[in-house]
Amino acid sequence: MNSLFRKKSITEMVKQSEQKSLDRTMGAFDLTLLGIGAIVGTGIFVLTGVVAAEAAGPALILSFILSGIACALAAFCYAEFASSVPISGSVYTYTYATLGELFAFLIGWDLMLEYLLATSAVATGWSAYFQSLLAGFDIALPEVITSAPGAGKGGLIDLPAVFIIFLITALLSKGIKESTRVNNIMVFVKLAVIVAFIIAGVWYVKPANWTPFVPFGFDGIVTGAATVFFAYIGFDAVATAAEEVKRPQRDVPIGIIASLTVCTILYIAVSLILTGMVPYTELNVADPVSFALHYVGQNTLAGFVSVGAIAGITTVLLVMMYAQVRISFAMSRDGLLPSVLSSVHSVFKTPFKNTWITGSVAAAIAGFVDLTTLAHLVNLGTLAAFTLISIAVIVLRKTHPNLERAFKVPFVPVFPAISALFCIYLMTSLPGITWTAFFIWISIGTIIYFVYARKNSKLAKE
Ligand code: ALA
Repeated sequence: MNSLFRKKSITEMVKQSEQKSLDRTMGAFDLTLLGIGAIVGTGIFVLTGVVAAEAAGPALILSFILSGIACALAAFCYAEFASSVPISGSVYTYTYATLGELFAFLIGWDLMLEYLLATSAVATGWSAYFQSLLAGFDIALPEVITSAPGAGKGGLIDLPAVFIIFLITALLSKGIKESTRVNNIMVFVKLAVIVAFIIAGVWYVKPANWTPFVPFGFDGIVTGAATVFFAYIGFDAVATAAEEVKRPQRDVPIGIIASLTVCTILYIAVSLILTGMVPYTELNVADPVSFALHYVGQNTLAGFVSVGAIAGITTVLLVMMYAQVRISFAMSRDGLLPSVLSSVHSVFKTPFKNTWITGSVAAAIAGFVDLTTLAHLVNLGTLAAFTLISIAVIVLRKTHPNLERAFKVPFVPVFPAISALFCIYLMTSLPGITWTAFFIWISIGTIIYFVYARKNSKLAKE
């Protein structure tokens, strides 16, 4: 029984990370940009359209606010975790040090579902804007190769999505890590096109488009919130950079909260203007932001937005796939997953095999599964992780009262408890099929833990 809860020592891990320390160059501002780079992507550029058309109507803005609140609550809990265990890795590492091996494995397994499927989902959004851009030049790819079968658009496979994933795989496997500078430029491009959309679009808003404001009732708003939650995913990437930050205890929480705040404000503005420009019933398209500009005759700007969206979504893709490789690499190095996932290429010094395995699986999924299905599953996985983290904050205050915490969640246990309940509430409004898929994934994980990981764990051998 005890072995299920064996823990890594925090002091030991901090010591190890100091021995092989990375350059501490980043500050709160860099982290905020890193966060925005990881957050703004397919969610705002693509999902807004279908959610407005099918779930929330013009009340889309309320879905974004609701979802933003859930994220902010969870972000505080995330930040406390990150500031108390300032080593790179993610919740997986923190959990291993605090709640023990079984929880760490399950949360790592859950995060793999999140990042793997997020890679596929984000690529689908990339594909949509790529096609939108081609359409600007009067080029149309054959329908069968431009969307997944489930998307209802007569497609058999989404080849552009498969293509971009393999391109990113090739880059990552050779060790092209996104540099802070490239990220900063991309963030600037993304923000520029969003702000341009807001400034140009506001003149075309017809308040009549906002009525009826809540066509699908309160349920629609909550379902919408559970779907657009996808648009906020990525702020957790900030926590993974802790080792490269000058003052992690102070800067990591600032980075998480600041990037989330900026995104929430932008999302609120975009959803308000989008539903004001176009009647919500017409927004069921794959490229709603460009579509709205075309709708009002701003074709040149629509073209720029497509280019900006493509560039911006690419960085998100890079972050998601990198995170997936990093987590499975860490789990494999700890002996919890097969060692092929942590083998390092002799020339490139990267987890070459892991990257290609991850890329191939993500590409196959992106080719054949539609965006909404993927986003729901990613959201369920992520909300489950947030729920656990929120609970873990309460547990840790009891079990590790003396752990140094530079950032503390206020009003424990009330605040984290509300966070957990809020996440569970959003989870319950996701479709049944998503839950089935999630349970299958977690069951497979549990079997792998008991059949493989428990015996092969490095910690067990020590
Ligand atoms: N938040 C990220 C996106 O919307 C995953 O693309």
